[in-house]
Amino acid sequence: MSASELPVLNTSDPDYTRDPYAFLAPLREQGPVVRVVLDGLPVWLVVGHEEAVQVMSSPRVSNDGIRNAGPEARAVFWSGAAQRGLQSHMGRLDPPDHTRLRRLVQQAFTPRRVAALEPWIRRITRDLIAAFPASGEVDLIAAFAAPLPITVISELLGIAPEERADFRRWADTYMHSDETQEEVMAEAGRKVGALLGGLLARRRTELGDAPLDVEHEGTLTDGLIRARDQDDRLDERELLSLCFLLLGAGYDTTLNLIGNASLTLLSEPARLQALRADPDTLPAVLEEILRLDPPVKAVFLRYPLEDVEVGGVRIGAGEPVMVHFSAVSRDPRHFDDADTYRPGRAAASHLTFGHGLHYCLGAPLARLEARVAFEELLRACPELALAEPVEKLSWIPSRLFRGLTALPVRVTRID
Ligand code: HEM
Repeated sequence: MSASELPVLNTSDPDYTRDPYAFLAPLREQGPVVRVVLDGLPVWLVVGHEEAVQVMSSPRVSNDGIRNAGPEARAVFWSGAAQRGLQSHMGRLDPPDHTRLRRLVQQAFTPRRVAALEPWIRRITRDLIAAFPASGEVDLIAAFAAPLPITVISELLGIAPEERADFRRWADTYMHSDETQEEVMAEAGRKVGALLGGLLARRRTELGDAPLDVEHEGTLTDGLIRARDQDDRLDERELLSLCFLLLGAGYDTTLNLIGNASLTLLSEPARLQALRADPDTLPAVLEEILRLDPPVKAVFLRYPLEDVEVGGVRIGAGEPVMVHFSAVSRDPRHFDDADTYRPGRAAASHLTFGHGLHYCLGAPLARLEARVAFEELLRACPELALAEPVEKLSWIPSRLFRGLTALPVRVTRID
């Protein structure tokens, strides 16, 4: 099939942003791996669950577009300075560089550290809810879903309270512009980079030479600065792009999880009632929403190092492959009644946090933030309902993220 005959997927098309599922369902009819033109570039789109596992666990498929993208993909996706600079982080590296960085980050990001954050995350959550009107309308994205993860990640990174508003504004601009808005992205990237760079330089001087103490109560940034790998510290560029990754990975993703989960529950009040009646089902509800409406639509492009065969098609070396979570998570070969909301199904087998070497390092933190968010929201707000019809809501135009721009709700709050 020539490129002009391939199905077209424009990720900024408002119909696609609003309902990617309607676009993806017909593609599935063609097989688990489909060739499409994505934002002008022919790409292999993985829409089958088993095939996604295969791609994400294959050592013959690279995350490193700078080294391994073929010339066509390089021209479209890897041409800009913003792409080559801050984005050359561990999420885009292969072993052995990835292995080394991931080991270092894990030292500063242990499950124990994450679990210890719960009382503090609960306090932040309660403060946000306390600022809602006692009875009235509130935008759940602006007042709750966005400030919670940005406060958590800013605190973890050590961004000073007075710098947070700027940090959030630039981060929003960077995250929500696409690669075609090269100048906007580059400018916002420079601002975030300067802020993170200043923070790192300051903390490096203050910390001096002390080795990492795993019980240390400092920020994540401190842990990263102190992290050593056989006396080999992270260099300045690695540290900066890592903080940048943590910002991107820790902010929009969790924001969208809380926003999408709110919408899933409020758009069908029976779902919310069932959860209120049995609050122990909250973790299962969140897993099902992670599957049904993934906050990250698709993973960074991957590039085979040699020709590979997946789902009955042969993919050439360097040809871009995109694992599409919004499609994969509704694969009827893997999930019965895949389009139906059914908490408690074996939803943990969803791939929304990825799979293999790059499996999301922040999954325990994201799950913790979302659980605490809903525990507190449901406890403090006996009345919670959409203030606008679902069709009127708008979604961010993003290739990777799926989330609402605003979610007006009516609340009644008790103290
Ligand atoms: C990687 C999803 C929250 C940190 C990933 C990947 C996915 C993902 C799909 C794999 C990317 C790939 O294979 O190329 C999500 C979702 C989240 C979330 C859906 C929220 C609901 C977080 C949080 C943090 C975080 C809160 C940390 C603050 C990371 C890091 C990686 C990663 C560091 C790179 C791991 C590596 O390359 O080895 N995430 N994430 N994520 N995530 Fe998350």
